[in-house]
Amino acid sequence: MAERARVAILISGRGSNMAALLYASRADDCPYEVALVSGDRPNAPGLDLAEAEGISILRLDSKKSGSSYWNELQTSLEKASIDVVALAGFMRIIPADFVERWAGRMINIHPSLLPKYRGLHTHQSAIDNRDSVTGATVHLVTSEVDSGAILSQVEVAILPDDTAEALASRVLIAEHQLYARTLSQFVSRERDPDWIVERVGQIAFALPETRFKTSHGAPGWKVGSPSSDKFFAIMWMKHHGEESVAVLVKCGGQDEMATLIEADPAQYFRPQYYGPSDWIGIRLDRPGVDWDHVAEWLQRSWQISAPARLTKLMTIAEEF
Ligand code: GRF
Repeated sequence: MAERARVAILISGRGSNMAALLYASRADDCPYEVALVSGDRPNAPGLDLAEAEGISILRLDSKKSGSSYWNELQTSLEKASIDVVALAGFMRIIPADFVERWAGRMINIHPSLLPKYRGLHTHQSAIDNRDSVTGATVHLVTSEVDSGAILSQVEVAILPDDTAEALASRVLIAEHQLYARTLSQFVSRERDPDWIVERVGQIAFALPETRFKTSHGAPGWKVGSPSSDKFFAIMWMKHHGEESVAVLVKCGGQDEMATLIEADPAQYFRPQYYGPSDWIGIRLDRPGVDWDHVAEWLQRSWQISAPARLTKLMTIAEEF
């Protein structure tokens, strides 16, 4: 099985969603593993559970650590090579720079059908408003609370004599299933070839005078006027017997290619047929791809391939 995505779960309390994610990860075909459980309260009951289950835990105290809390947390996430952060009943407001660092890789579960009922007391609000259904939402975390892009939702019926507690416990059952399923889909999405091609395309089209063209059947992107355009990025999608999905970009020559591959063989490779003309392969169907780094490579390759009239403009723009 492919390498599993490494997930950190942040909690503040009992951690029943954390437990649901953890037990789901025990299935042989689960695409993620729980690599770390932490939070803001050192005595959160969920931490004891995770510890008993043999998961690495980190007992941080946001009150005691004050402003260094977020740095400590970030350092431990990096040390554990975390790919995705899942918030599960984590009650701290997250500072903007931390959100920014994990943009697109941090998700949360909220007990309502967002955008309805952000914040606390969601079940009581749904009952007070005489709603017939409520539910739960998994969404990306952005700096505005409970407002990021919605990844999935599940509906739960409200019974005529429901109390907030009774409703909360039924919603919780639905949450546990929704969260595990959504996290699995979320981490798998990044290995889906169609998703990867779309992402590379977005980066390629952000560069001037870029055109889509296939190269021997593989999606590719060219720069320059139609009569003299050149490829600067080509997808490598298993049809040369390769195991992985990768993008090929132009590098500075054979020496640079050899050095990069030696330093990081999990990321770089020398593609058959293309390698001799200085194309290097960057693997993209693995967890934790650094897309900013991929964008830098595409820009560099674009610069090598683009006509002088375009690269001059780019250089001038960079000087300002
Ligand atoms: C859940 O209802 C979740 O939706 C909300 O906080 C609660 C946490 O419960 N964000 P638990 O700690 O996962 O049991």
